[in-house]
Amino acid sequence: MTSRININTHNQYKSPGVVRGMLSGDALVQLREWFDHAVQNGVEEPEAVNVSTVDKAGIPNARIVLSKSISRLGVSFYTNYRSAKGNELASVPYCAMTYHWRYPHTDAHTHTQRQVRLRGRVVQAPVHESHAYFNGRSEESRLGAYASRQSSVLPPLNHADDGKQTLLQQLKAEKDKSSPISHSSPDFWGGYILVPFHVEFWSGQPSRLHDRFLYSRDPQDVEKALPADAATPIESVDKVADAVEKVPWTIDRLSP
Ligand SMILES: Cc1cc2nc3c(=O)[nH]c(=O)nc-3n(C[C@H](O)[C@H](O)[C@H](O)COP(=O)(O)O)c2cc1C
Repeated sequence: MTSRININTHNQYKSPGVVRGMLSGDALVQLREWFDHAVQNGVEEPEAVNVSTVDKAGIPNARIVLSKSISRLGVSFYTNYRSAKGNELASVPYCAMTYHWRYPHTDAHTHTQRQVRLRGRVVQAPVHESHAYFNGRSEESRLGAYASRQSSVLPPLNHADDGKQTLLQQLKAEKDKSSPISHSSPDFWGGYILVPFHVEFWSGQPSRLHDRFLYSRDPQDVEKALPADAATPIESVDKVADAVEKVPWTIDRLSP
């Protein structure tokens, strides 16, 4: 094994250019437009998004999840509320999200790529939405959600086990407990919605002169319309969106 890998690529980007006149006045409308464009142009798994949280000590933690909606309020994803990210959001209810879309019609040297970065407050999705999403999952996925204590260590059952047997045992115990598996989500599992204060749209351009537009709105004004923490589900996405949408966006071009 070599002791070092040097990465000497010099990628060039040539994505559709962006000028201010093309942009919606609302960041979430603009995000839906770009998401739709990525879907229409064959970007693979465009819903995959990096979610970064911080722990109590302020140390960042990042992972990929699948976003499940982009609404007037924000971007939702589903997870275990007692996972590492769930615990982090319970103590610091903010996160950053990053989409990276690589378009398939690119050659070896010229890539079409876009990035969208969001930062803001996280709230729990309405309980009825979590149940509805959970209800649409397969029996195996529902069983997995009930059985998994996501992010906790799986102690080995014996010297030949690396922890997998413990997981299988937990799955079996859950299956024996309730069959068929409930269509209602467990109370430790459900949706989060990132309500953004800042959204940046990045389009890769030749010679690193990328187009970047940053949408910003007042975090304090947005937070006035939200529950005080990320552990209290909101009742209605539309009702909260009605209040949050009153906070105006400003749009600035950023230096590449
Ligand atoms: C493509 C992809 C999609 C994923 N989707 C989800 C998801 O929607 N929800 C989720 O909880 N974890 C998802 N994961 C797993 C997370 O990256 C992570 O391993 C898990 O949520 C535990 O993270 P945590 O320990 O920071 O809480 C996905 C991973 C990948 C690579």
